[in-house]
Amino acid sequence: MKGKATLQGVPVYQPGKPLEEVKREYGLDEVIKLASNENPLGCSPNVWESLQAERDFFALYPEGEAPLLKEKLAAHLQIEPQRLMFGNGSDEIIQMIGRTFLEPGDETVMADITFPRYKTQTLIEGGKAVEVPLIEGVHDLEGMAAALNERTRIVWICNPNNPTGTMISGEELTSFMKKVPPHVLVVLDEAYEEYVVDSNYPDGIHEVLKDPRVIVLRTFSKIYGLAAFRIGYGVMDPRLIQEMNRVREPFNVNRLAQRAAVAGLEDQDFVKKCRDTNREGLALFEKQLNKWNLSYFPSQGNFILMDTERDANEVFQALLAKGMIIRSGVPLGYPTHIRVTIGTREQNLRFLTELAQILDKPAPEDVDRSHE
Ligand SMILES: Cc1ncc(COP(=O)(O)O)c(C=O)c1O
Repeated sequence: MKGKATLQGVPVYQPGKPLEEVKREYGLDEVIKLASNENPLGCSPNVWESLQAERDFFALYPEGEAPLLKEKLAAHLQIEPQRLMFGNGSDEIIQMIGRTFLEPGDETVMADITFPRYKTQTLIEGGKAVEVPLIEGVHDLEGMAAALNERTRIVWICNPNNPTGTMISGEELTSFMKKVPPHVLVVLDEAYEEYVVDSNYPDGIHEVLKDPRVIVLRTFSKIYGLAAFRIGYGVMDPRLIQEMNRVREPFNVNRLAQRAAVAGLEDQDFVKKCRDTNREGLALFEKQLNKWNLSYFPSQGNFILMDTERDANEVFQALLAKGMIIRSGVPLGYPTHIRVTIGTREQNLRFLTELAQILDKPAPEDVDRSHE
């Protein structure tokens, strides 16, 4: 039996290849996964300890509203707790936004190429995804504003954008917001916000406080290193949360996830360490790619989209055989690019060494190591 008619065009999500599968397939003992923008440093050591406190409560449902986490996060973000809504990953917040606000035939506007869940959720609801091509990897906000019409309900802005890593500035966002009609919600997906170092990056939460049409999405999956727990959040006008609570599953964020997020939040030294390590890693990649004369998009995230000037699927396969999992740009719409998550320094050097061999480039031994 087939699913609903609106589902027939909905693609099934293709995750990065799991580590265990690659080990089995290629008979490798050691595999490095730089494919899903996970945190190579893991999570705060405090998380494990905090989870012990939950041992006696496995038989109990969690509190659906995550009150302790809500209070701590509200204090951290300096906002009122009633502006926060949690999800089983920010993926689930995207789902709840679609469930709540989209009717069949509604349009949502997004970049082409960007994070795929915006389109998928729009299609699931029987809506139409209007995709506006990036300009040199950056959101074309003018083009996106021009695509808004009376059928548009949501515009999705991924900042920094996955997979290009590029960002839009505060100034660009402010001028875009002036062109957004009152019936359109603006979702600012800031999954990689904590990695951003560019001072022109807009403060999405400030936009939320100014404008009830804006929703900011953040996650504990990236810099907090808690992807396994599935927990993300939205910051928005409490009236939007009230509507979205109608579609929220009663216990959508599990007990361990709530506890782990509190522990992660309390360790901002770990967050800083991850941001610094990521910056050093990005600088290493950029320096080496410049030496090889290969182009890449300037990234504010924890990943980099680089042009290998070869068939990206072939580069992907060759790396896989060496025990390195990355993302081919082919399904992302960049046939010669690969997207690589920034790893530890050791992982980054190993990756660049393997890539040099595959692309016939000089080995990265001549990378500046003076700061080691
Ligand atoms: C831009 C963007 N938004 C949302 C997500 C989903 O994150 P979560 O793990 O919180 O569901 C990701 C994950 O890769 C992402 O890249």
